[in-house]
Amino acid sequence: MMQLPVPTWFVGCGNMGQAMVEGWRLAGVDLSSAVAIRPSNVPVPGIRTVGSIKEAGAPPRMIILGFKPQKLDEVAPELLPWITSKTIVVSLLAGVETASLKARFPKATVIRAIPNLPVSVRRGVVALFTGGEIEEGLRKQLSEAFAALGFAMWAETENSLAAIGSVAGPGPAYVARFIAALADAGVEQGLPKALASSIAVETVLGTAWRAASSGETMDDLARRVASPRGTTEAGLAVLDREDAFRQLIGATINAARRRGAELAAEARGEQVA
Ligand SMILES: NC(=O)c1ccc[n+]([C@@H]2O[C@H](COP(=O)([O-])OP(=O)(O)OC[C@H]3O[C@@H](n4cnc5c(N)ncnc54)[C@H](OP(=O)(O)O)[C@@H]3O)[C@@H](O)[C@H]2O)c1
Repeated sequence: MMQLPVPTWFVGCGNMGQAMVEGWRLAGVDLSSAVAIRPSNVPVPGIRTVGSIKEAGAPPRMIILGFKPQKLDEVAPELLPWITSKTIVVSLLAGVETASLKARFPKATVIRAIPNLPVSVRRGVVALFTGGEIEEGLRKQLSEAFAALGFAMWAETENSLAAIGSVAGPGPAYVARFIAALADAGVEQGLPKALASSIAVETVLGTAWRAASSGETMDDLARRVASPRGTTEAGLAVLDREDAFRQLIGATINAARRRGAELAAEARGEQVA
């Protein structure tokens, strides 16, 4: 049975922490010694939940930081007494750089992870980064644990972590908007809402599934749907007009990346205008 380092603390276990717990439970990972710490004390299914750090129990081998980046300076001083040179701190905090984490937890091995929400169904994307040395056995254990949540990779540089994160992290929210637009269009065509929604979800799932398994380019895939002078081609002519859709997605990703840079600056202690 696969195990996380024992014990593992999830400090903050909201949307993302719970998605990871769900994914690991589905993968059969042993969470019997793990604990979720959240002020509301609302139980997280499948894992012991407590309301504060002092109730967590045995000192952690691994700490997963799953609160909002803005809370870092509130939570870091509470965690500091628990951290030794053997502690692994895995930060999920969007934007907050390794140097800022190291400044708060100088003794710990610091790893950054940017997961996305489908980790809950083991189809997530997870980018990992470590700025320092990490023992080979631990690297392997973490690689395996995160691979159980989907497509996991180590980024070579913190910049490439940010780049992967800017697409993968928020990506499910953008895809959700696309699915909703597709479903709304179905309703406008006269379909009942629930049916339109299922059709939109299944169309995106099927397309992604085919793309993942066939290896064909997206141009090839689109070409196989759109015959010359046919219906799809008429639709694509609208979607492709003045490259507006591509530019919209580009601007969307850029805006999130800029926000990540702001959060990074705040965690470095810089004033943000
Ligand atoms: N959501 C995503 O798709 C995604 C993707 C990549 C990275 N991330 C990163 O993951 C982190 C969490 O995001 P989220 O979407 O899961 O947020 P969320 O749903 O708001 O969860 C935040 C968690 O932090 C807990 N918390 C608040 N104050 C705390 C404190 N003082 N000490 C300990 N825990 C505290 C909350 O406790 P309660 O449950 O008791 O309220 C909650 O469990 C963020 O840093 C974000 O950048 C999220």
